[in-house]
Amino acid sequence: MEIATYGSTAMHAKLIEGLRQYGITDPIRRFDDLSDEERRAIRILFGWYMPQEVIDACPSLEWIQGAGAGVDWLMTVNIPDRITVTRIVDQFGPDMGEYALLAALAWVKDWRRWSLLQKSREWTPHLVGQLSLLTVGVLGAGSIGGHIAAVFRPLVAEVRALGRHLPNLAGVVGFSADQWPAFYRDLDLLIMVLPHTSDTYHLVGWPQLRLMRTGGFVINIGRGAVLDEGALVMAIRSGQLSGACLDVFEVEPLPKESVLWDLPGMTITPHVSGPSRVEGMVRVFADNLKRFRQRRALVGVVDRGRGY
Ligand code: GLV
Repeated sequence: MEIATYGSTAMHAKLIEGLRQYGITDPIRRFDDLSDEERRAIRILFGWYMPQEVIDACPSLEWIQGAGAGVDWLMTVNIPDRITVTRIVDQFGPDMGEYALLAALAWVKDWRRWSLLQKSREWTPHLVGQLSLLTVGVLGAGSIGGHIAAVFRPLVAEVRALGRHLPNLAGVVGFSADQWPAFYRDLDLLIMVLPHTSDTYHLVGWPQLRLMRTGGFVINIGRGAVLDEGALVMAIRSGQLSGACLDVFEVEPLPKESVLWDLPGMTITPHVSGPSRVEGMVRVFADNLKRFRQRRALVGVVDRGRGY
């Protein structure tokens, strides 16, 4: 079977080593190391953010296994319909749940302030908030959103989730997309896990943020383009929100001159909340390779119309 990877040599080496443990020993080479003729024979490509030249160089391509959860890069290339694209699913909940919980607690407990006070050896107590009194809304009700909702469910007053279709998650108040005003109304904490698609671009803007409870907080760990960053700046400067924790941005890396860096109450991390861990990637790819051979349905097939 003609398989290649598109990405770093380090990723390639780890993938090969991991696949061996699943008994997969097919020759797999890096796209960059192949001749034009060898590229023309490639049927399966593993990788991420592939430019058009890579797709065009592989006319025999039947399947692309994306190395991550998000496939927004598909919007920038033209991939023939005969090619199936799969993404990594069901691997990111634990990491992203832990990140969201940490960000929520750091905000509620004013953790940053204690660090600053400690630096200047100051002893200045003040009253902090309590997670158990809050209403938390998870925007996105797939496998990651469902996991995050379950993490927060025992810790807060109410968990809401909004999905394309009415989410049905244990102990969670579900909202379908058209019920968005009720989802945002009086929300203390918004946790965004949506992919970037043509339907989700700037889905969260001023009309949504203004419905949240004054002094609320936003955590975005989905895709930056889903949040209208200008509206977020306005919401924080006006005091409508007390801050945000952003791991994803409309432009990454976040430009040095962005006003987001210096906003009060802002935590910025460099797209680290849901790392593509090798074990997870290998598990999904190994399973899908077996399915591909046996002509069974692959796991994590991207619906191109829907965008994820
Ligand atoms: C990370 O952002 C991913 O999409 O896997």
